[in-house]
Amino acid sequence: MHGLLSPDGIGRLRDALARADFTTTGIAARIGPAATAAVRRGDLRAALRATADGDPLATLIRLFVCGQAEDEARTAAALAPLVLADAVAAGLVERHHDGLQAGVELEPYHDWWVVSDLSASMRPGRPLPADHVLGVGGASTTLAGATIRRPVGTALDLGTGCGVQALHLSTHAGRVTATDLSERALRFAATTAALSGQEWELLAGDMAAPVAGRRFDLVVSNPPFVVGPGTTTHTYRDSGRPGDAVCAELAQAARHLLADGGTMQFLANWLHVAGEDWRDRVAGWVAGTGLDAWVIEREASDPVGYVRLWLADAAEPDNTETAAETAATWLDWFDANKIEAVGLGLVTLRAAGHDDPTVRVEELRQPVDQPLGPHIEAWFDRQEWLRAQDLLAQRLSAAQGLQLHQEATKGPDSWQVDRQLLALPDGLRWVEQIDPLVLALVSGCDGGLALRDQIVVLAAAHDVDEATMAGVAVPIVAHLVERGMLLPVEG
Ligand SMILES: C[S@@+](CC[C@H](N)C(=O)[O-])C[C@H]1O[C@@H](n2cnc3c(N)ncnc32)[C@H](O)[C@@H]1O
Repeated sequence: MHGLLSPDGIGRLRDALARADFTTTGIAARIGPAATAAVRRGDLRAALRATADGDPLATLIRLFVCGQAEDEARTAAALAPLVLADAVAAGLVERHHDGLQAGVELEPYHDWWVVSDLSASMRPGRPLPADHVLGVGGASTTLAGATIRRPVGTALDLGTGCGVQALHLSTHAGRVTATDLSERALRFAATTAALSGQEWELLAGDMAAPVAGRRFDLVVSNPPFVVGPGTTTHTYRDSGRPGDAVCAELAQAARHLLADGGTMQFLANWLHVAGEDWRDRVAGWVAGTGLDAWVIEREASDPVGYVRLWLADAAEPDNTETAAETAATWLDWFDANKIEAVGLGLVTLRAAGHDDPTVRVEELRQPVDQPLGPHIEAWFDRQEWLRAQDLLAQRLSAAQGLQLHQEATKGPDSWQVDRQLLALPDGLRWVEQIDPLVLALVSGCDGGLALRDQIVVLAAAHDVDEATMAGVAVPIVAHLVERGMLLPVEG
């Protein structure tokens, strides 16, 4: 797969970018923190003031960060040793009546450069074309942050687009494979890889077809998950499958894609259909796969908000007759299929080889400490630990900083406790309502006594037999371990 430039051209462009220090740190140092923050808000004034000099870094910032037209001499000097004619031929810059402008998004990202189509803000007033190749966006960084970064032999980025996930995979995978339906996207990914000094296997094709029969230690995907009637207007968001079928297909594909012990993580949207529990629907995606699954719903959107969001995402004008018709057709489809909302979240699947896999589908709406990846990894580790142990024989301790929140109402004589909540102060920040018995249990988890001995004491205090107390306590303790509120004591 060829990039936008020849290997020699890529080398020259890389030299130009490195020499000018067109990097995240170089740009921030040049324009300062206030202008950097303002650029993120779409306010370019301070960045333009800081780059009036016309030196190569200033010119690159004006071209590729601010979307300005620059004159021929400055652009040629900024891109040298890449020949300007080659940059124009590759579409990196375009000739306009007022000078040269960026033809692609060229974004410093961590220690790399990512090349993609111009974002909506760099092409004001023009809707995104059907074959638009996305740059690094909120969904990209969400998935990147949620990915488990343990060293692996082989990794696959399915639907690579500009190659952002593949870049991250290259930091901990021996070999990276990236696929996309769009040949155009693969050309951008090839350019991103070459410019960032990486080598990936790039394959074209639909979903898992290009890697049929192969298995990977890690698979990540930010797929075209947008739900709708199954018509494709934009390749980056529409799969051509109706409803949430593309995500169901990915989940089913995981069993053939994952090596033993392998993990697959993908962003997904799912339907909340009237009369159906969305959790059952999503759990159904992995039924029969033999994979452990943790699915978290971060938010849910009502149909009107959802359609508006995605029309705006493609910079489609919302005040024309066509836009109104598109929105109405989309919303009619929601109505006809009794869809009340769309859930947005993350699916993590693990080929752990269990006959009775754990499948957990739940909401995780609270703000969490980023990145999410280590918390997801720890969740799967705790699940494995729970499987391997006789919990009654284990000593447990409360998580560092675990808090007890009480709500109480003042009575005539004293406070009456209405609600008690255990709260994790960091990480996934779970909050669990508990009763006095569970509080006693958690209070006793100081790493000293095995759970069985704690239960003996509690059973005696409550005048119930130990087996009954254990029957109640063990599932609750297992749940608190799963949530990371109680932790195993080693040794
Ligand atoms: C939302 S973009 C994700 C891009 C990038 N991986 C990221 O994280 O930002 C989805 C990508 O999936 C690709 N795609 C769309 N339909 C596909 C299909 N049927 N099979 C494989 N890739 C597909 C699109 O071309 C696009 O590059």
